[in-house]
Amino acid sequence: MNKFDIENLDLFYGSNQALKGITLPIPARKVTALIGPSGCGKSTLLRCLNRMNDLIEGVRITGKLHMGDEDIYGDIDVARLRIKVGMVFQKPNPFPMSIYDNIAYGLRAQGVKDKKVLDDVVERSLRGAALWDEVKDRLKSHAFGLSGGQQQRLCIARTIAMQPDVILMDEPTSALDPIATKKIEDLMESLKKDFTIVIVTHSMQQARRISDRTAFFLMGELVEHDETQNIFSNPQDDRTRGYVNGDFG
Ligand SMILES: Nc1ncnc2c1ncn2[C@@H]1O[C@H](COP(=O)(O)OP(=O)(O)OP(=O)(O)O)[C@@H](O)[C@H]1O
Ligand SMILES: [Mg+2]
Repeated sequence: MNKFDIENLDLFYGSNQALKGITLPIPARKVTALIGPSGCGKSTLLRCLNRMNDLIEGVRITGKLHMGDEDIYGDIDVARLRIKVGMVFQKPNPFPMSIYDNIAYGLRAQGVKDKKVLDDVVERSLRGAALWDEVKDRLKSHAFGLSGGQQQRLCIARTIAMQPDVILMDEPTSALDPIATKKIEDLMESLKKDFTIVIVTHSMQQARRISDRTAFFLMGELVEHDETQNIFSNPQDDRTRGYVNGDFG
């Protein structure tokens, strides 16, 4: 089953067309990797999925983008969409507050006050993000005291706490060392049991290790998308072959 159906999607920043006729199904509960050289439109497409491009002036979008039977660019509740489609960024961006409060923030904003409920969600989310054991004895400590890799897992936990269907990740490990990267990659494997994940990465090895499907973009066009294994071992397009072999980047 597909989580998203994208058909013939065009996106313009003013007169500059950043996405050209993109048609891409994104399957549910799988990891889909978006790859391609800098400026090819990966982040732009990712931001379409929870309408983060709405925040940028002069953006014009045409084509179809559905999540299930919901038209994302139709008359929908965008705040609710952004809860259902959570996002993790390149640089960990915890809120300036305690570990506990970071996770509880979204629920409290929705009016949840019950300590037992909040405690449960905090624990479940931190476990889900493979961070619980490292922080369970210092939940009241400031989030900025965590390492970069821990902060990124905290941001994943904060996203999980809102019970999204989808987690978008834009180069989530590019600011992390190899050990912290490995932890996030391992985490991805367990996350996809519950969530649909779309990840932008510049690392071919990472796309290969963690994704089920890979989509290769070049200058705003989707060149090819397929099972990750096929993209790396038997691509149909010479441009894909060149890119995954590191001939250009
Ligand atoms: N806010 C914006 N306003 C105007 N143009 C933009 C904006 N964001 C991106 N673009 C343009 O859209 C195109 C695609 O950019 P995008 O950031 O999606 O690329 P990317 O594949 O994520 O690149 P990178 O790998 O460097 O992050 C580029 O030509 C870029 O200059
Ligand atoms: Mg980008």
